Amino acid sequence: MNYRHAFHAGNFADVHKHWILTLLLARLAAKDKPFFVLDSHAGAGFYDLAREETGRTGEAADGIGRLIDSTAVPDSFSPLLTAIRQLNPEGGLRWYPGSPWLIAHLLRPDDRLAAVEAHEGQAALLRETLREARNAKSYHRDGYDAIPSLLPPKERRGLTLIDPPYEDRDDVSRIVKAVTDGMKRFATGSVAIWYPIKTLSLGDTLARELPPAERGRLRCEIWTRPPEREDAGLTGSGMILLNPIWPIDETIAEDQPILADLLAQEDGAGSRVLSF
Ligand SMILES: C[S@@+](CC[C@H](N)C(=O)[O-])C[C@H]1O[C@@H](n2cnc3c(N)ncnc32)[C@H](O)[C@@H]1O
Repeated sequence: MNYRHAFHAGNFADVHKHWILTLLLARLAAKDKPFFVLDSHAGAGFYDLAREETGRTGEAADGIGRLIDSTAVPDSFSPLLTAIRQLNPEGGLRWYPGSPWLIAHLLRPDDRLAAVEAHEGQAALLRETLREARNAKSYHRDGYDAIPSLLPPKERRGLTLIDPPYEDRDDVSRIVKAVTDGMKRFATGSVAIWYPIKTLSLGDTLARELPPAERGRLRCEIWTRPPEREDAGLTGSGMILLNPIWPIDETIAEDQPILADLLAQEDGAGSRVLSF
């Protein structure tokens, strides 16, 4: 496990993923009943963009840096941008939240978060990030194994976020197995799976192999450069949603193209949202 999210915190993929995450949390919070979130690959939860490893890649400048002061950003980004502004009360963009911080920040008093991280150093940072969050618990363990074992939640409503680094050959098969096992225990829960777009093939494989979902499946993608070139590195960001909370597709269909425009790095940037 060599991946360190600090190198990429706040980049365009984080913005796309964290925006959709905040939309899902808002849909869950629209009902007056508690919900549970399982963040299976949580990372440290909080990032200092002025630190050497983060500053070195400069990725945040072409991610959250493009949105924070833009007047073109749609209203659906308010929960994410408000949270980031609260983290940076003196203005600027020094601190960027990871998924567990964002989730913990947006929970209501009776909602719960379980945040799982397998890397020892990252898990220690995660514990520190969530130390004062009353309804959040961190786990230092394997995230794929945690999915069936922490489901179903007593609330019977909730979301599992799966955001692996895709550095192991078996990540896709482990995602498919964990989701399949998790859905046998909690068929109506929502699941959000992030994946990198280098070519379009990884999203195709996931879409083909993931189990059916009672309440439908969506595939949401943006690309900042044309995705077809073999050598182009990370060109885009994808999220597969199982049992998405409707009508989230309408917000995504409307606002994702605006996000793709804001984050474009070359001609050929774009987006799509597909039911499958
Ligand atoms: C892309 S980062 C997570 C970023 C985070 N979800 C966010 O949005 O801020 C992936 C994390 O998964 C961790 N990881 C890798 N393999 C894991 C596994 N099998 N179980 C749990 N965590 C794992 C890595 O150490 C890394 O911190």
